[in-house]
Amino acid sequence: MALYSEKVMDHFRNPRNVGVIEDANAIGEVGNAKCGDIMKMYLKIEDGIIEDVKFETFGCGSAIASSSMATEMIKGKPVEEAAQLSNKAVAEALDGLPDYKMHCSVLAEEAIKSALEDYNSKKS
Ligand code: FES
Repeated sequence: MALYSEKVMDHFRNPRNVGVIEDANAIGEVGNAKCGDIMKMYLKIEDGIIEDVKFETFGCGSAIASSSMATEMIKGKPVEEAAQLSNKAVAEALDGLPDYKMHCSVLAEEAIKSALEDYNSKKS
């Protein structure tokens, strides 16, 4: 069996939503203590809906694929729903990741949560 699924390879080779949102109203940045990789997530939220999302990463292929998939999964969704997104759900949507690469998908989940915290702190 191949180490990585077709979906992981597709999102790694053609990542969706890479880049910066200049007028983002929520930005999250997290690092992975295990490998030192970094992920930055930009959200444009309007009326509680994630209208746009982009990410930048200094991360491995699994982190790129996870972030790409995660952005697809939260785009157009209410913030409450995006806050529930787990790294497990992202890995499942990618048809799985090798066990020792699961921590890479955590980076995507945490970057979204960090951006949503930023959004909530600005709101209050
Ligand atoms: Fe660092 Fe994957 S090895 S995020």
